Amino acid sequence: MKVFFKTYGCQMNIRDSEIMEELLVRSGHEIVKDLKNADVAVINTCAVRAKSENKAYSLIGRLKKRGLKVGVTGCVSEIASKDLKSRGADFVLGTRALTSIVDAIEGKMDFDMSDHLSDLEKQLITFNTSQTRKSITTRTSKHHAWVNIIAGCDKFCTYCIVPYTRGREISRPMENVIKEVKALASSGYNQITFLGQNVDSYGKDLKDGTSLAELFRRVYNISGIERFWFLTSYPSDVTNELIEVVAERPRISRNFHLPAQSGSNAILKRMNRQYTREEYIDLIRRIRSKVKGATIGGDIIVGFSGETDEDFEQTLSLIKEVKYVRLNIAPYSPRRGTVASKLYPDDVPTAVKKKRMLALSTLQHAIMDEMNKKLVGKSVDIIVEGNSDGKSYGRTIDNRMVFFEGTIPEGESVTVKIVRATAGPIYGELIGKVLKVVE
Ligand code: SAH
Ligand code: SF4
Ligand code: F3S
Repeated sequence: MKVFFKTYGCQMNIRDSEIMEELLVRSGHEIVKDLKNADVAVINTCAVRAKSENKAYSLIGRLKKRGLKVGVTGCVSEIASKDLKSRGADFVLGTRALTSIVDAIEGKMDFDMSDHLSDLEKQLITFNTSQTRKSITTRTSKHHAWVNIIAGCDKFCTYCIVPYTRGREISRPMENVIKEVKALASSGYNQITFLGQNVDSYGKDLKDGTSLAELFRRVYNISGIERFWFLTSYPSDVTNELIEVVAERPRISRNFHLPAQSGSNAILKRMNRQYTREEYIDLIRRIRSKVKGATIGGDIIVGFSGETDEDFEQTLSLIKEVKYVRLNIAPYSPRRGTVASKLYPDDVPTAVKKKRMLALSTLQHAIMDEMNKKLVGKSVDIIVEGNSDGKSYGRTIDNRMVFFEGTIPEGESVTVKIVRATAGPIYGELIGKVLKVVE
C-alpha cells in the first residue's frame, strides 16, 4: 500500500513516525510524500494542548472526504480512542504499539490496539537495536539521527498529559544504545541527538549505574560522530557529573534545553515541578561556570491556574536573568484527566493570557536580538543541515541556526563568519571548510 504520514508534536513523535515508516517499507509498502498518491493516511498526533488535539480531528475529517483510509497513532490515540472512531478513523494505535503498524495498515487488527501494550513495550525497545543491523531507509536525515534513549515520563506535572499518553519511564539498556550509535556511525551519520521527554532522567529506572553522563563517556569516541545533542533536560535531573562530562567534551552540544515553565515558586509548586526558582537559577549558574559558551533554551506556560500579576512578573524577571537563546511560550490549556484539570480552575481569562504571552514574547525578542547581535564578526563552526536556492543552513554547537550563501552538501562541516543577526535568523559568509577534528 501507499502510505502518507502527517506528524504533529515533539521529536518523540517524529522519531516514532520514522520507525513506523521503516517497518512498513520493510514489509513491502511504500511511503509517499504526496497525498494524491496515497491509499492510506496515518496521522501521528499530539495531545499536549487542546489546539494540537483539535488539529488531528479536523485533519481526519478532511482526509475522509478524499476517500482515504485513515489511521491515528500518537498521543491523542491514547486518550480519545472513541472520539477518533466517531470522527471516522479506521484504526487507532497507541504510542507503545508502533510495531503493530503493519498489521493495522494491512487491516489485520481490531479498531483499537492501544490496550495491547505491555508486551509491545518490550518489543519496541529491542526493535530499536535489531533495526539498525538492517538498512536504515527512512530516517529524515542521512547525516543527523535521532536516537530514543528513554520513553515515557514519571514526573506528573499537574497540567501535563504526557505521563498518561506515554506511560512510565523506560530506559533502553545502554548496550543497545551504543550498538545503535555504532551502526549509525558506520552508515555515515555524523550527528546524533539523544531523545527523551526527560533525557537526563535516562537510566534512573534501570538502577545499574546507567546515566546520560555515562552514555556520553561510552559513545564519545565512536569514530565518525562529530556532534552529539540531547533533548529535553528536566532541570532537577541535571547532575554535576553530566555538567562535567559535557564541559570536558567539546563535540557535545553546548545547549541545554531546560524548561522552567514559570518563574514563581507558588506556581512551580502548584505545577508539581520539582525545583524552586532559586534552584533553577543556581543550576544555570553551575552550567555556565563549567561549560564554556553554554546556551540555555526553555519552555514557559503562561496563565496557569492561579497565576497572578505578581507571579507573572516573576516569570518576566527569570527570563531577563537567564537570557534564553530559544524559548517556547504556550498558553495554559487544561487537559482532561490531569490533576490540574480536576483540582485547579482555569481561572486566568483568555485576554489576560494573551496579554501576558505578548509581553513575554516582546521581552524574549529583545533578548534574542541582543544575544544574536553579539555573534556578529565571530567565526563559528557549523555542520550543514540543508540547502535550497543557492543558500545553506546549519547549527552552531550552541544551537543557533545560521544561513549563508553557497550550496554546501548536508553533513559537511564549514566555518562561517557572522555578518548580520536579527532576533530570528542569523546570516554568515562561508570562510572555509573544517578539517575533521581529531582528538
Ligand atoms: N518533559 C519536558 C516537556 C515536555 S511537554 C519538561 O518537563 O520540561 C512540552 C511542553 O509543552 C512543556 O514544556 C510545556 O511548556 C508545554 N505544555 C505541557 N502541557 C501543557 C498544557 N497543559 N498547557 C500548555 N502547555 C503545556
Ligand atoms: Fe509533562 Fe512534566 Fe513529564 Fe515534562 S516532566 S513531560 S511537563 S509531566
Ligand atoms: Fe505531544 Fe505526545 Fe510529544 S503529547 S509533545 S506528541 S509526547
